Amino acid sequence: MRRIEVGGAQPYGVEVGEGLLSRLQVPQGQTALIHPADLPPQFAETVQASLCPTVTIEVPARDDCKTLEVLSGVLSKLAAANIPRDGAVVGLGGGAATDLAGFAAASYLRGVAFYTLPTTLLGMVDAAVGGKTGVNLPEGKNLVGAFHPPQAVWCDTDTLATLPDAVFREGAAEAYKHGLISDPSLLERVLSPQFRPGGANLEDTLADAIAVKAGVVTRDLTEQGERAYLNFGHTLAHALEAVTGHAVTHGDAVGYGMHYAALLSRAMGGADLTPHTLAFLKWQQPRPLPPLTFDAVMPYMARDKKADSQGVRFVLLCDLAQPYLTRVPEDVLRGAFGEWQTAVGDAD
Ligand code: GLY
Repeated sequence: MRRIEVGGAQPYGVEVGEGLLSRLQVPQGQTALIHPADLPPQFAETVQASLCPTVTIEVPARDDCKTLEVLSGVLSKLAAANIPRDGAVVGLGGGAATDLAGFAAASYLRGVAFYTLPTTLLGMVDAAVGGKTGVNLPEGKNLVGAFHPPQAVWCDTDTLATLPDAVFREGAAEAYKHGLISDPSLLERVLSPQFRPGGANLEDTLADAIAVKAGVVTRDLTEQGERAYLNFGHTLAHALEAVTGHAVTHGDAVGYGMHYAALLSRAMGGADLTPHTLAFLKWQQPRPLPPLTFDAVMPYMARDKKADSQGVRFVLLCDLAQPYLTRVPEDVLRGAFGEWQTAVGDAD
């Protein structure tokens, strides 16, 4: 078992290991367990046996749970169950369910304690750590939310064994990204045959990937600076998700987006890190993209949250572990898009 400390105004620990769901303990007497409908039933049963929640609330699967309507239903159920101000909300499942549960915890009674039990690789490496909670609007993803750090995060690696291989590989994109922006030792370890459910290096690699995010959010919880570096590869990724109506999954989109960001980094004078991003795409085998043009994708990139009144900004790399935030001229964006299309077309 590994434990990673997240510092800042509300410090907490992230535990990574086997069998954690059956050993949970929280000080709050009354808890509400929130999990998605498609969660393997044994996970909720194990948590119910160890935590004895006052109420269990099932929510729709994946991003279908991140709506104001679902949030409203969850808040009503917390009130109906009389969860008190010194009670707690426990979010169990993938990143969407834990984002919703966290926002319910942040808004119910102006904030109650929150615990996160991520059951996907993507959720463990990214969503569960760092206190970002929220729901989507028809106008865009995560447009309503709050920073509400959890009291603790438990990453039970046994849960990863139930993930389809493509979903595990998808989730590895965020771990690889942490290698590129901060800890290059992760690059080889994520691509190792031992980085798989039950594999010999799963726990340590996962814990080291989480430690990158833990360090960043300890120093910059509310994204005043360094936290934006976690968005490496995400400007194109979010655009690919939006332009395809979310037919492209987040992890696949990040795999594709990291290669575009590496091409931009090289075009802006940085080291050539494209061999790394291509090696990741070859390993990840993301699902193929539909035909796309730069002119169709660019308006979505322009809506990126790192955009300001002077235009869109990208997280690029001078070299491994040397991220920076910059504006990129449109002719460079267009040129790199052509190179990216050729490369990912060949990778498909
Ligand atoms: N997923 C990026 C962040 O937590 O800041």
